[in-house]
Amino acid sequence: MKRNIVITGGAGFIGSHVVRLFVNKYPDYKIINLDKLTYAGNLANLKDIEDKPNYKFVKMDICDFDAFYKLMQEEQIDGIIHLAAESHVDRSIKDPFTFARTNVMGTLSLLQAAKLYWESLPEKYEGKRFYHISTDEVYGALQMSNPEGIEPPFTTKASSGEHHLAYGKDFFYETTKYNPHSPYSASKASSDHFVRAFHDTYGMPTIVTNCSNNYGPYQFPEKLIPLFINNIRNRKPLPVYGKGENVRDWLYVVDHARAIDTIFHEGTIAETYNIGGFNEWKNIDIIKTVINTVDRLLGRPEGADLDLITYVTDRLGHDARYAIDSSKLQKELGWEPSLQFEEGIEKTVKWYLDNEEWLDNVTSGDYQSYYENMYKGR
Ligand code: NAD
Ligand code: DAU
Repeated sequence: MKRNIVITGGAGFIGSHVVRLFVNKYPDYKIINLDKLTYAGNLANLKDIEDKPNYKFVKMDICDFDAFYKLMQEEQIDGIIHLAAESHVDRSIKDPFTFARTNVMGTLSLLQAAKLYWESLPEKYEGKRFYHISTDEVYGALQMSNPEGIEPPFTTKASSGEHHLAYGKDFFYETTKYNPHSPYSASKASSDHFVRAFHDTYGMPTIVTNCSNNYGPYQFPEKLIPLFINNIRNRKPLPVYGKGENVRDWLYVVDHARAIDTIFHEGTIAETYNIGGFNEWKNIDIIKTVINTVDRLLGRPEGADLDLITYVTDRLGHDARYAIDSSKLQKELGWEPSLQFEEGIEKTVKWYLDNEEWLDNVTSGDYQSYYENMYKGR
């Protein structure tokens, strides 16, 4: 079946993996990557597929209602996978307005343009889909009921290793009440509400998914794992917030992209699905694993860079623990993570060390001027 799909934020970390998967897997689909190319957008993330005939890049701000409405009409868009967002919690603490603009108003603008276009068609919403990618942070923070960890009640491929303890008895379920704490998560929560409101009010065929922390290739090195890999290779201090005791639930980014593919095609309209791998880690344990992996791969003595760990002032409002229960997705749609965390971290560290040019371009800012010039004439 032929489809015309817009993927917003396709030049970012997760978006680039979703674009790659769809372009390679669905040659009959037209995949339009719509991205404003903020500091986090980098078309070098898609170099391997940029010349494929079913791929098109459009530089656009999701807040530009007129431009997006025109694109919907011209390209006869029947599916939207919406990832574009301001995504870094620390930036949201410094500049909440940008987060409200992009994450809330941008999402609303896409919804309204899609509504007007789809409602103008004879078949209206039939065969259409607005899929909104959200985060587990909207649920707030879970208690750490047992610092030593308890055995998880679930076993999946990604949770079968020795590290996979749960650090509390509660999990985020699809039914968990929203309780966002940071300006970032508040803006994402608001956008989720707008998406659901467009289903409930106008009957738009929407889906929302809430995923845990992603890691893997092409993540902007402001986020924990790539920032620390980059700093270790350059022997720079590793700023650990607070005591490093906060817990996050990590998923390899390609597994998130696979889940998005499954849910886009087989998910039930108006449903919410949590995505995660039952893979909780304390920050400090991840950091030590990353240090040991980088040192080993660079041929440095094991633990040589442990002294780079530098405890710094905690993030304001730092959420203690995130832990996703993804059993609904696993049971209803048969998705499960494909990688053990140890395997994923090894692949990830190796990727960054093998792609030093990408890291250097991103950290120096060179990637932006290069692609700015490349796309000027198009
Ligand atoms: P990212 O910051 O790496 O990429 C965001 C992309 O959106 C960039 O390419 C950027 O240029 C683009 N963008 C930003 N503002 C835009 C605008 N106004 N118009 C058009 N494009 C714009 O983000 P990511 O980590 O890949 O996250 C993608 C989505 O997944 C976000 O919605 C985020 O909330 C969600 N999410 C992320 C994680 C994670 O661990 N990274 C986990 C769960 C959910
Ligand atoms: O849970 C999903 C979310 O995961 C996504 O919605 C966000 O877009 C994504 O950025 C991520 O949010 P976090 O705040 O959890 O990710 P970050 O990589 O910024 O931080 C992970 C943990 O590491 C967190 O507890 C803060 C800590 N940290 C982070 C940085 C950047 C440090 O200790 N030092 C650091 O320098």
